[in-house]
Amino acid sequence: MKIVDLRSDTVTKPTLEMRQAMYQAEVGDDVYGEDPTVQKLEELGAGIMGKESALFVASGTMGNQIALMAHTNKGDEVICEADSHIFYYEVAGIACLAGAQARPISGQRGILSSDRIKHHIRPQDVHQPRTGLICLENTHNRAGGTCYSVQELAQIKELADSNHIPVHMDGARIFNAATAQNVSVEKLAEKATSITFCLSKGLCAPVGSLLTGSHDFIQECRRYRKMLGGGMRQAGIIAAAGIVGLETMVERLQDDHLHARILAEALVSIGMDIDMETVQTNIVIANVSSFGITAKQAAALLGEQGIKAAVFGEYSIRFVTHHGIEKDDINYTAGIIAKLVKEINAGLL
Ligand SMILES: Cc1ncc(COP(=O)(O)O)c(C=O)c1O
Repeated sequence: MKIVDLRSDTVTKPTLEMRQAMYQAEVGDDVYGEDPTVQKLEELGAGIMGKESALFVASGTMGNQIALMAHTNKGDEVICEADSHIFYYEVAGIACLAGAQARPISGQRGILSSDRIKHHIRPQDVHQPRTGLICLENTHNRAGGTCYSVQELAQIKELADSNHIPVHMDGARIFNAATAQNVSVEKLAEKATSITFCLSKGLCAPVGSLLTGSHDFIQECRRYRKMLGGGMRQAGIIAAAGIVGLETMVERLQDDHLHARILAEALVSIGMDIDMETVQTNIVIANVSSFGITAKQAAALLGEQGIKAAVFGEYSIRFVTHHGIEKDDINYTAGIIAKLVKEINAGLL
């Protein structure tokens, strides 16, 4: 049976060029600062983001958590979006690792405005925690891949600067945000004190993320990475794939965005409930409640037909387009879903 795996862009596999680069990578002990390939990747990543330094970490989660630890003091409060990865999916790391308290606020389709944030910054008061960090997710995963614009980020930066609060951007999919808005990633990253981005999602590397920021900040982060057991030795083997990802896999993200839009439009045309305003990048979140089934049931029905989607709530399923998914796969998926919808509507399922 034909399988179309749309659960996530993390299912992407390293390209042939990546595997060749991994095979040939020059390596050394990175904890001694002797891995030339890791160093090359960190320099490349820092340069692309317009930051002084970068740190290669095992995952996006590790990058975010190290940033939280380095930016905050025990007992600080961290402003983040209520559905953000940092708050929702990182196993209470804010509390457990940074010793900080989360202040989750709902954004508009995942996007926080400076106005919204302003009201949640703590005043100086002996009873209250200090607001130690503002976290932004760009693109916002649970909201359906929505983007912060440069203008929205500039307003938040102005507010943060005037309150002496750093801004960390979870830019796991920052290249998607830049591609969708036709701006450079540097322009988006400029408005954040630090930014994490993933090599292992749309960019197809097998493992790894980069955390970028000022030289001093990254030095501090290097210590926390070691604390978490993230000091990797001949990590150039995996860094080599990351370099290829940055050099060859960014431009094609526009294909993923086009495919997501084609899929979303096809699904809406057969009565699926999708907020099209959120379909800005490579993620489509559909609500299946109008078919009288749960997301789990929908995913199971799709799975029987070879279409893999992620359960994203009681009635929400997520489709993510990525390298390896072609337009034919999208048309095929839309066709299978149309057939299932017909059968449901006819009471056959
Ligand atoms: C927005 C966002 N941030 C962070 C992460 C974490 O990345 P990792 O799975 O590499 O820990 C993800 C993963 O899906 C994500 O979607």
